[in-house]
Amino acid sequence: MSVISARYLRKPGVARARLPQGVRADCGTLRRVTEAVLLVGGQGTRLRPLTINTPKPMLPVAGVPFTVHQITRARDAGVTRIVLATSYKAEVFRAFIDDSDLGIEVVIATEDEPLGTGGAIRHALPFLESGPDEPVLIFNGDVLSGVDIDGLVQHHQATGSDVTLYLTPVDDPRAYGLVPTDQDGRVTAFLEKPKAAEEIVTNNINAGCYVFKRSVIDRIPAGRPVSVERETFPGLLTDGALVTGVVDSGYWLDLGTPLAFVQGSCDLVLGAAPSPAVPSVGDFLALPGAQIADDAQVHGGTVVGRGSVIAPGAVVTGAVVFDGAEIGEGAHVSHSIVGVGAVVGAGTVLRGAVIGDGAVIGRGNELLDGVRVWPSAQIADGTVRFSSDS
Ligand code: GDD
Ligand code: MG
Repeated sequence: MSVISARYLRKPGVARARLPQGVRADCGTLRRVTEAVLLVGGQGTRLRPLTINTPKPMLPVAGVPFTVHQITRARDAGVTRIVLATSYKAEVFRAFIDDSDLGIEVVIATEDEPLGTGGAIRHALPFLESGPDEPVLIFNGDVLSGVDIDGLVQHHQATGSDVTLYLTPVDDPRAYGLVPTDQDGRVTAFLEKPKAAEEIVTNNINAGCYVFKRSVIDRIPAGRPVSVERETFPGLLTDGALVTGVVDSGYWLDLGTPLAFVQGSCDLVLGAAPSPAVPSVGDFLALPGAQIADDAQVHGGTVVGRGSVIAPGAVVTGAVVFDGAEIGEGAHVSHSIVGVGAVVGAGTVLRGAVIGDGAVIGRGNELLDGVRVWPSAQIADGTVRFSSDS
């Protein structure tokens, strides 16, 4: 176990309580949540090559590292202390936190070896100050949502749950953890990424935010990898613990894939997704030093990074252009990510593409539908097409 750094920056909590329908609470006995753990140690393999040098939660989304959106939402819900559970590329988080003032105490805990989601929560335990019965919030570090954090905690307290899960309905739940509940909201099973058709028993999935009674964290085995989804939650159900779910159908997105990453960034810029950390809401966001030619068209929630250049006649829609990139004359870029310092040649079309940092795409290419170009690669003029050039 290693502690990397701690910052002591406080902002008064915001008191806003809303109980779920039908739940009565004795407010005298309820405590506000003040501590949270943010799970940010995953490798982000589905976002490669963007995550080769930068861990997923540190990729810029709507002008700031994604993790800042989550930290500031937690802060605004009254959390005063947050533990970043890091593993992959922990030094990138450390450098950023040491240079930032987010109005909340941020503690960085780093696993020597990745301990999985449950192992990471257990590893964060010595950094928590909450009492055994007090609530601790846990967040997956790649989820953008409008969850009512206060409502979740109130539900947890009022029901006396050991763990309360934020659930959200999705059309196709197979890529997530399925969480069926009974008529009282009590979780009856936890089915992580089920394969068999008979296991698809609900559309409500684990939305990646939990309230744990701190004593439940104490009982997670220490010093070995543990999956909270595959081991801890099913084990709690077997042991008869009270695990409840709160279904919230508001905005929710896991930014794990390139298309979802672009979608989340655009939704933040357009104001469809809530975050206190978006510098300004509008049709696009140009960061300081960005240069956009007068007759270029930039919209759909596009972010144009610091010092990036959008040349005359270019059309950039629903895209993320990282810092120092160049989009050439008449290029068409949509639903794509253009890495730091990458160059997109004149007339080139990108649709659903990921261009790694420093890559150079020559003029007149066409890169579509999930293509990924690795950092510093060079593609010559007019050499790649996904359609005839006639
Ligand atoms: N510290 C640490 N150590 N963090 C980790 C580790 C680890 O070893 N492994 C994963 N994480 C973090 C990731 O960085 C991410 O923020 C979070 O844990 C979840 O991991 P993902 O890899 O993104 O999981 P997923 O998206 O496939 O599934 C999870 O999220 C779904 C909702 O988006 C599960 O919790 C599902 O049940 C859930 O439905
Ligand atoms: Mg995920």
